Amino acid sequence: MIHVIGIGAGDPEQLTVRAARVIGRTDVFFLVDKGSAKSQLNEVREGILAEHASGAHRVVVVRDPDRDRTAATPGYAPAVGDWRSRRADAFERVIGEELADGQSGAFLVWGDPALYDSTLAVLEEVHARGAVAFDWAVEPGISSVSTLAARHRTGLNQVGRPVQITTGRRIADGGLPAGVDDVVVMLDAHQGFTALTGLGLHIYWGAYLGTEDEILVEGLLDEDLALRISEVRAQARARKGWIMDTYLLRRPAAR
Ligand SMILES: C[S@@+](CC[C@H](N)C(=O)[O-])C[C@H]1O[C@@H](n2cnc3c(N)ncnc32)[C@H](O)[C@@H]1O
Repeated sequence: MIHVIGIGAGDPEQLTVRAARVIGRTDVFFLVDKGSAKSQLNEVREGILAEHASGAHRVVVVRDPDRDRTAATPGYAPAVGDWRSRRADAFERVIGEELADGQSGAFLVWGDPALYDSTLAVLEEVHARGAVAFDWAVEPGISSVSTLAARHRTGLNQVGRPVQITTGRRIADGGLPAGVDDVVVMLDAHQGFTALTGLGLHIYWGAYLGTEDEILVEGLLDEDLALRISEVRAQARARKGWIMDTYLLRRPAAR
């Protein structure tokens, strides 16, 4: 059995009791290595293993294939597809080679595996290829989106209204989606909110949520606030070498 375990968005205490139990019963952990800038993320994973895994567990590092991040938007999907199938090659190899009969393996996934994470899609691809036989199960985790809402002490939706979760790339290409009052933006390397000032939107922004470096900014999204968030973001990124941020944009009409 392969467990795909959501570990929360940075605070090890976000791990569910159930996930901690599954970790305690797992034989082999597959740690996907995304390079040094993100090694702090693996430090969180290692801390969780030190606390909850059995003394007999093993860790197998899976080198993440390089990804073409230079692809312009039209080429983005094929670039991801190619990277995903190379990642499937790596998963197939470790599942086939590193688990003895009857042993269980696990992937520790940041936040919740259901949200902007490729582990489940990659495992499906490996399973469909049929070269290695395995079953898999998912343990939900607390996402960065849940953490953002909690830290700002707000809900994600307004009464009876929809909420959309999308990417910075989509916001940059198409602006704010129509018909939605609340939009959560993830994976935004280019601060798409800076192009959305003057619309009377309210922004709830958070970086390094759930960690000791957590930064929160909230307010009416005018040029001053957009500039302030950009500056705070740039300084934090320079200090730590990487950043993960998420924000909620709320339309005023429904407020
Ligand atoms: C590949 S997605 C993974 C999302 C993850 N599965 C989840 O449930 O939060 C990475 C994006 O999640 C967001 N993110 C993840 N952890 C975060 C954190 N601790 N603080 C702020 N944003 C975070 C950022 O938008 C980042 O670009």
